[in-house]
Amino acid sequence: MKAKKKIEKIAILTGGGDCPGLNAVIRAVVKTAIFKHGLEVVGFLEGYLGMIKNMTRRLEAADASGILHQGGTILGTSNRDNPFRFPVMVRGKKTFRDVSGQAVKNLKRNKVDALIAVGGDGSLTIAHQFFEKDVPVVGIPKTIDNDLWGTDVTFGFDTALQTAMEAIDKIQTTAASHHRVMVVEVMGRYAGWIALESGLAGGGDVILIPEIPYNIERVCEVVRKRHHYGKRSSIVVVAEGAVPQKGEVVVQKLVEDSTDPVRLGGVGYKVGNEIEKRTGLETRVTVLGHIQRGGSPTVFDRVLATRFGSRAVDLVTQRKFGVMVCLRGLKIEDIALKSVQGDQRKVFPNGDLVKTARSIGVSFGD
Ligand code: F6P
Repeated sequence: MKAKKKIEKIAILTGGGDCPGLNAVIRAVVKTAIFKHGLEVVGFLEGYLGMIKNMTRRLEAADASGILHQGGTILGTSNRDNPFRFPVMVRGKKTFRDVSGQAVKNLKRNKVDALIAVGGDGSLTIAHQFFEKDVPVVGIPKTIDNDLWGTDVTFGFDTALQTAMEAIDKIQTTAASHHRVMVVEVMGRYAGWIALESGLAGGGDVILIPEIPYNIERVCEVVRKRHHYGKRSSIVVVAEGAVPQKGEVVVQKLVEDSTDPVRLGGVGYKVGNEIEKRTGLETRVTVLGHIQRGGSPTVFDRVLATRFGSRAVDLVTQRKFGVMVCLRGLKIEDIALKSVQGDQRKVFPNGDLVKTARSIGVSFGD
């Protein structure tokens, strides 16, 4: 499917786990397409499933009104439904088929000239696979984890940080009242950005991230010392992907059809139980979970999502396909989808943020 000379109609879909700012990006795409370029816009529903099953919604300017501040996505999303590996039942047995041809047919059926795919690692990999099948596509990066290669920041991250920091603030007060150790488990599968930055902002005493394997005895030493000095409480912020020096990540379950099947969770309890057992100090665990993915986007996320969405439409009209919009410093740029595959943007263990945290006495349990 080659792009027509003149782009008249675009499609947008949101794929992967949701995050605050998706509606802001949809709004920016719809408004820029209609007001600036006079294009028509259609939305595919439920991520790539909508493309496979031809579930669409026409998007007028009015549909983009009043959604800027809303969490979630008006289009729905899914972190399963990969068109290149779609589960189908054959004689009662689940098998996987490439139904991408069907999805491309649905683009044509809807007279779509170009696709804007908003997603994380998995969804953007699929976007690139469609580009290799000659679909004119532009990607927009999103994830609360901020672990996408090729952009300095993804929208959704700042809101998740705000949520996590506010939770830590609240936990600080109850921790102090009871002389307790409080463990707060936050999201962050492969990268510890949420734990690191919310931990820094919330005054965490120990921050455990996937990039710096921890030793539980070191964590306990910090907690014991603080108790010895008369500190009323200790806060341990743990990324769900935190891993002990000798051990593995804590896997909660496998979601077979997902582009990334591993679901983590539970390391907070593992760490909390060990702390209580080894130090004798009363310990409680809070797992923030999907609260971090919800809510109204912050100013930063609304502005970034708006800039990404608007630029993506401009790129479509310039016929610049196979790229993802990105933030470099303060500027919105674009980068080939191909070059963002397979790599993750992780916390640099000797980087500035980690060093700053160590300078103020934060322990990484190493
Ligand atoms: O990648 C974003 C993310 O929120 C991760 O932080 C988390 O591990 C995962 O998605 C959870 O996925 P699900 O919504 O399928 O439980």
